Amino acid sequence: MRLSVSLSVRLSARREEDPVKELFGKLADGTEIHNWPLENGGTRMNVLSYGGIVRSLEIPDRNGQYANVSLGFDRIEPYVDSSPYFGALIGRFGNRIAKGAFTLDGEPYALSVDDGENSLHGGADGFDRRVWDVEPFTEGTDVGLRLSYTSADGEMGYPGTLRAQVTYTLTAEGDWRIDYEATTDKATVVNLTSHVYWNLAGAGSGTIEGHELSIAASRFTPTDTGLIPTGELAPVEGTPFDFRTAKPIGRDLRTGHPQLLAAKGYDHNWVLDKGITAEPEHAATLHDPVSGRTLRIATNEPGLQFYSGNFLDGTLVGGGGGTFRQGDALCLETQHYPDSPNHPSFPSTVLRPGETYRTTTIHTFHA
Ligand code: GLA
Repeated sequence: MRLSVSLSVRLSARREEDPVKELFGKLADGTEIHNWPLENGGTRMNVLSYGGIVRSLEIPDRNGQYANVSLGFDRIEPYVDSSPYFGALIGRFGNRIAKGAFTLDGEPYALSVDDGENSLHGGADGFDRRVWDVEPFTEGTDVGLRLSYTSADGEMGYPGTLRAQVTYTLTAEGDWRIDYEATTDKATVVNLTSHVYWNLAGAGSGTIEGHELSIAASRFTPTDTGLIPTGELAPVEGTPFDFRTAKPIGRDLRTGHPQLLAAKGYDHNWVLDKGITAEPEHAATLHDPVSGRTLRIATNEPGLQFYSGNFLDGTLVGGGGGTFRQGDALCLETQHYPDSPNHPSFPSTVLRPGETYRTTTIHTFHA
């Protein structure tokens, strides 16, 4: 009710300063995909209606020089054909669910299996491959987009009609805020996140091994060889997984730690010390000493997946012309822990009718 009222007000009172879409390309079936340029507080973004994809995100370095720090393409085709989730919204479930199977209220569910024997990032046609409805807004000094997608009962094997709304806001300070919301008409599981590949020196400029990363987490969730959490919350102390104090990502990458060998690098969930919080709290800081660019991430989620771009293999060419090789970008995905539906000891990802799933992640940029 509140939604429909505010929508009609917004449509009739569309403001001149609201973001305006451009045609980006067409899907094979003729569906038009739009690009939405956003700019505020010194941050510039391009967002696609396909997958809610952040196609680019530009911020200045310490000399005011802009660069795109988020890997992306300049045409729709590679997004459809070969994108490893560049910049995309991930749903219904961020990261893996073992064997694409879980049981809820005694009912077994079989999901789309798209990663070996497991289900990854919502299955073969997850939220990253869906066309979202996009509504632009300006509110006070904020500029942004409201993206909505309704996932049918049974889509990719998940129970319940899931109504998802994701709001991208650029603030007057140039922060990028993501608010995720979802409701369901049947008990289900949900874990939404964003899959931006960061390279603070510029997409396509080379390795991120010199970026300094800190993660406010004393434990992480070790995985088996299929990258499914074993269930253990292991201390990071004395391991390459200790990012409590900032260190270059490359420092411990070649130590031969069995967890790094199995994942070809970092591809793990960190258990944030703050746990689930009512408001977003600090989770991680990424800093590029060369450009001076710094990204800080705050969230109310209990976990953070740090993926060091292990599967980038030099076969993809970005919008700026550079190719992407292993370790040329990293992802910091705020989330509940992977495979939560199969680990009763993990914080729950169950959503029931009448409840609203709500999480927020804030990206703050400095140079
Ligand atoms: C996530 C996963 C990785 C990989 C990437 C995309 O970060 O944890 O294993 O699938 O997405 O390639």
